[in-house]
Amino acid sequence: MERTFLMIKPDGVQRGLIGRIVGRLEDKGFKLVAGKFVQISDEQARSHYAEHEGKDFFASLVGFITSGPVFAMVWEGDDIIALSRQVIGKTNVKEALPGTIRGDFAAHTPHNLIHGSDSPESAQREISNFFEENELVEYNKTLSPWL
Ligand code: PPS
Repeated sequence: MERTFLMIKPDGVQRGLIGRIVGRLEDKGFKLVAGKFVQISDEQARSHYAEHEGKDFFASLVGFITSGPVFAMVWEGDDIIALSRQVIGKTNVKEALPGTIRGDFAAHTPHNLIHGSDSPESAQREISNFFEENELVEYNKTLSPWL
């Protein structure tokens, strides 16, 4: 079972979309194992987005993600890193298809509501950047993997 780090960005929190976004992920069958509000510090934002340091949008990326509270989450599921990025939709909202979170709710790039890890290595790094091991809850959601 794979884990990923998903984060509802300040625009999603401000627009009151936490419930609907979490619902989309639950509807897909993913399992929520941790979630909390975080007011990200400048240092934590730079560490989270370290791979983008040096790009022309880096300052605006850090500025946006620290502009208000985010809702940080860890989710679990088979192939969840790839599948959750499908549910989220493309980064550029003009390319995000209807039926995806960004396609249905986001109208301006880069205010694209939610971040999702793009690889197992990123997921591991991002989860430990936001959560202690004891914040990840172990529980059986169902006896049937297809439910
Ligand atoms: S890249 O260069 O292709 O790897 O970048 P990309 O995957 O398109 O985007 C990486 C994250 O940066 C955000 N982004 C921006 N934020 C603020 N301002 C501007 N101009 C900007 N352009 C891209 C984009 O939403 C991605 O954020 P995450 O949180 O990873 O989805």
